[in-house]
Amino acid sequence: MKSIQSNIKKAKKYLDNKECIAIPTETVYGLAGNAYSSIAVKKIYKLKKRPINNPLIVHYYNLEQLEKDCDLNDNFLKLYKIFSPGPLTYILRLKKSSKISKFVTNSKKTLAVRFPKHYLLRNLLKNLNYPLAAPSANISSGLSSVKVSDVCDEFGVKIKFILDGGRSKLGVESTILDLTDKPSLLRYGGLDISKIEKVLNKKLLIKTNTKYKISPGLFSLHYSPGIPLRMNAKINHENEAFVLIKKKKVKLRNYYYLSKTKNLNEAAKKLYSTLRKIKKDGFKKIAVEKIPFKGLGKTINDRLNRASKY
Ligand code: TXA
Ligand code: MG
Repeated sequence: MKSIQSNIKKAKKYLDNKECIAIPTETVYGLAGNAYSSIAVKKIYKLKKRPINNPLIVHYYNLEQLEKDCDLNDNFLKLYKIFSPGPLTYILRLKKSSKISKFVTNSKKTLAVRFPKHYLLRNLLKNLNYPLAAPSANISSGLSSVKVSDVCDEFGVKIKFILDGGRSKLGVESTILDLTDKPSLLRYGGLDISKIEKVLNKKLLIKTNTKYKISPGLFSLHYSPGIPLRMNAKINHENEAFVLIKKKKVKLRNYYYLSKTKNLNEAAKKLYSTLRKIKKDGFKKIAVEKIPFKGLGKTINDRLNRASKY
């Protein structure tokens, strides 16, 4: 308990000094800085090698904090009540009076906001008088980090501090909804969209296709292990790692299981760590078995599809 508080204090000190640090969330680890400080925000882009035109998600503790920066609407309030804190990001209109750095939004009039659930991060946010801008803690276009050692692999000594919150519970990023007009899905993520549609009592417009160009971060190659990957594979070729969703009778050295029983939540959780492991094991190519397009299987297919552009 004592060390938790002292780590939170350390994290706060770095952030108050406009440094960026890695933080745990229930989805993936984030690379966080004071969202009101352009100095801090520019450090995030630099460390992550992220194009400056790709806006960041801002993480809040509660509604009171958010109201200073964004206009709230009915759809947002309905969803907030049920799903926040949790793996859901909302695109809202930015208030003119907001102090959010223009580098967070690339001078856009909208802001992506999220209320993360991880207890350590909530504890930290409660102690800050600014929200945290935080993209996923990985070098741009690569795989997100789900544990401290992933963050170290990504940034090495360049990261000043990592708040260790154990392994991310969900293992994939948040679901992103645009609520500035008719509710639209911009990114499949850790929250199954059928649950969102039930609460809103209508279907979401699906705008995850790159042609919409609403989320610049989702243009083309993304979530990539840095080696070629092919989807919907029936068999694997020699020297290819084979990622499977269900246990096979034969056991081979190059078989990697996302789940033994076709459990899609478990598969989502294991997705990035499995791809990282395959690369570390020295494979130069990956084949992935067909993943059912339902529940979090939609998120897995989305990530694999973008990774396959390598
Ligand atoms: O689970 C998550 O969402 C993690 C954790 C750390 O919270 N964060 C995350 O951030 O995945 P990032 O930066 O890797 O992905 C955010 C996506 C990007 O594709 C970006 O283009 C999009 O959100 N985005 C940010 N602001 C936006 C805006 N105002 N309008 C549309 N898309 C936006
Ligand atoms: Mg990312």
